[in-house]
Amino acid sequence: MNKKNSRTILRGQTLSFSRSPFEGDAAGSIDHCEDGAVLIEDGRIIAVGTAAEILKQGKDASVVNHGDGLIMAGFVDPHIHYPQVEIIGSHSPGLVEWLNQHTFPCETKYDDADISRQAAEFFLDQCLANGVTSASVYCTVHPHSVTQFFEAASQRNLCMAAGKVCMDRNAPTELNDSAQSAYDDSKALIERWHGKGRNRYAITPRFALSSSPEQLEALGALWKEHPDVLMQTHLSETQDEIAQVLAAFPGHKSYYEIYESFGLSGPGAIFGHCIHLSDHERKAMSDSGGAIAHCPTSNAFIGSGHFDLAATRRAGPKTPIALASDIGAGTSFSPFATMRAAFEAARHHGNGLHPAEAFWMATCGGAKAMRLDDRIGNLTPGMDADLIVLDLKSTLLIARRVEQANDIHDVLFAQMIMGDERAVKATYVAGSRCRM
Ligand code: GUN
Ligand code: ZN
Repeated sequence: MNKKNSRTILRGQTLSFSRSPFEGDAAGSIDHCEDGAVLIEDGRIIAVGTAAEILKQGKDASVVNHGDGLIMAGFVDPHIHYPQVEIIGSHSPGLVEWLNQHTFPCETKYDDADISRQAAEFFLDQCLANGVTSASVYCTVHPHSVTQFFEAASQRNLCMAAGKVCMDRNAPTELNDSAQSAYDDSKALIERWHGKGRNRYAITPRFALSSSPEQLEALGALWKEHPDVLMQTHLSETQDEIAQVLAAFPGHKSYYEIYESFGLSGPGAIFGHCIHLSDHERKAMSDSGGAIAHCPTSNAFIGSGHFDLAATRRAGPKTPIALASDIGAGTSFSPFATMRAAFEAARHHGNGLHPAEAFWMATCGGAKAMRLDDRIGNLTPGMDADLIVLDLKSTLLIARRVEQANDIHDVLFAQMIMGDERAVKATYVAGSRCRM
């Protein structure tokens, strides 16, 4: 491709964040331009501004006019299980039963590399159709499930983090690894995949209940040897789970402190759920630098409880909080469904959720959790051009509501309450439009 063709301008409305909506008034964090444009070169964002400015700057570029479509960063989902696509909406009384009745039997099938590959392809296409351009992904205990995933992600040039699930107890024998094999296999996968192209590795102890102290210790040691990889796990999801975890780790002060004591906390740690943390745990996490993946559709489906965003922020103000689907306990790939459920969880605690907060947590927040906020998650010069274009009138009902809207916040709020996959008109990965 010659220089001329590698420069593209996307014209439309543009949306970006000048700062976190949680630092100051939420509305003031949004930069919105009604007739804006983005200049892209070699997969990177070069400039964002008014259409007039950008067309002048990029005279040699080809122009794609998205009309009144809203150009923004692709969504980032920092907690999702690719093998669980086929068990979405499988009912059980609670988390541990759901794992035993649906999740483990499903993940057992990933022993077959063909099943892994087909599921990874299907999963990534679902992500793209929903405007999710990056994610932090749980694979299965089988190392080839990671290889199949990264191969499929690389073919699509996606920026994805993923890891082999590690578990050596409280699971069917065929899904158990050991402390040593979890260490060896994860290490080999880090060496093979981390930093190769756009791939990132995440050390993945499933949760404290399915890992022995020896396994957590081995994975803590591995993370120390490779501090630039991520670490992802589940934390404080249901009351029943917490009781079982504390019984399995006698002598520990709290669920969070268990991970902390094995070196599995700090920058680069992504903790899924965190619904029932004490203020002490929230503060400890905030002081050490891990992030929370708030998974509200999953929490509603499993009956885990309602994450209290305001209380979590009060006790742990420095912790980045991102929105995640947690497919397949989560019920939708669509970040609109996740934002809607996050609003409802906030409502449960007597609070609201500003659309700037919701959209930030679904983009910049996820990028921050993945320690990639200098690369993805916002419409900022220098970042990778992983972008989506939203149709803000994707259904007759939304169009009718949007016609009454007072400002962009009102428009975004309507999207998060009523939107779905149909709103995603186009998805660009590193500047190239995906076929969907
Ligand atoms: N806790 C341990 N494993 C899982 C899982 O796969 N999904 C959810 N939601 N919680 C878990
Ligand atoms: Zn999960």
